[in-house]
Amino acid sequence: MPISIIPVAPEHFPALASICYRAFGTLQERHGVEKDFDSVETAGMVIGLFGSRPDFAGFAARDDATGKLLGSNFLQFSDSVAGVGPITIDPDDQSRGVGRRLMQVVMDEAARRGIAQVRLMQECINTASLSLYTKLGFDWRECCVMMRIEPAATDDPRIRPLTAEDLPAVDRLSTAQYGSTRVNEIAALLKIQFPGFVLDEGRGVAGYFVPGLIGHGFATRDEHLAALITHAGRHAPPMFHKFLLPLGEHNLHRLLLDARCRTIKMFNYMTTGPYERPTGAWVPSIGM
Ligand SMILES: CC(C)(COP(=O)(O)OP(=O)(O)OC[C@H]1O[C@@H](n2cnc3c(N)ncnc32)[C@H](O)[C@@H]1OP(=O)(O)O)[C@@H](O)C(=O)NCCC(=O)NCCS
Repeated sequence: MPISIIPVAPEHFPALASICYRAFGTLQERHGVEKDFDSVETAGMVIGLFGSRPDFAGFAARDDATGKLLGSNFLQFSDSVAGVGPITIDPDDQSRGVGRRLMQVVMDEAARRGIAQVRLMQECINTASLSLYTKLGFDWRECCVMMRIEPAATDDPRIRPLTAEDLPAVDRLSTAQYGSTRVNEIAALLKIQFPGFVLDEGRGVAGYFVPGLIGHGFATRDEHLAALITHAGRHAPPMFHKFLLPLGEHNLHRLLLDARCRTIKMFNYMTTGPYERPTGAWVPSIGM
């Protein structure tokens, strides 16, 4: 099928939101796992957000013969490590090479921007995406679980909201634990009023956490990150009550299960380019 790859523009949002909702919905219904998007409107919020932000590049595939949009994919390049997704192809047009084209275009875009490290989170039930990403050079690094936060019973006095004044601490912690800064990513989330939290025992910020699948967190100690996550559940709206936990974080996982957080489903963390496993306590975002 002859197709063109075009930049995502606002007039594409409704059709791409519908594809995103149906692509994930069909797959997740088939496997009986929790849906990522409860409505086309929720999918539209993500497509609209990613399609508008200056630190994202969005690409759509269009059927040359009919002009129909077939799917989309996004690259986030807020800092020096880039993230991919969500990639979604219309269920009627899958397995015809469109996904490969839309993955290749974001990888080419990363290369064009001089980005050496590209990462993504692959939903384990999808054998097609796992195979496609592996063929395109992504290496499996870690199994992750998506978890639902059980809010802490009381506020933790060591924890307060994350503000722009904490960005130097975000820079310090992410550079030390992730190997490169994620400060621009957090600054962009603060700008659109995402909730975030920092833990400070009086000796400076020891950890930060932005809840939700687009958020992430780092702390020097497991107990600190667990406290940040359950505290966030008390203050962030329900749509932010999810996070991704690397299963290699054994102790943090047990702390969160003891705090009655629930396991939803599994993902694979995959990377291209140089990779050093983050240190300390960490939870990744859906992109990075
Ligand atoms: C995942 C998705 C984007 C793939 O798009 P697509 O257009 O169907 O994929 P393509 O046809 O371009 O490529 C699939 C590739 O995987 C291969 N593949 C698919 N299933 C496979 C399997 N079970 N074993 C081995 N290889 C497999 C195909 O042979 C093809 O390889 P090729 O490009 O070398 O020929 C699409 O299925 C989708 O939108 N799924 C729902 C949303 C989703 O899950 N997104 C990804 C979340 S991680």
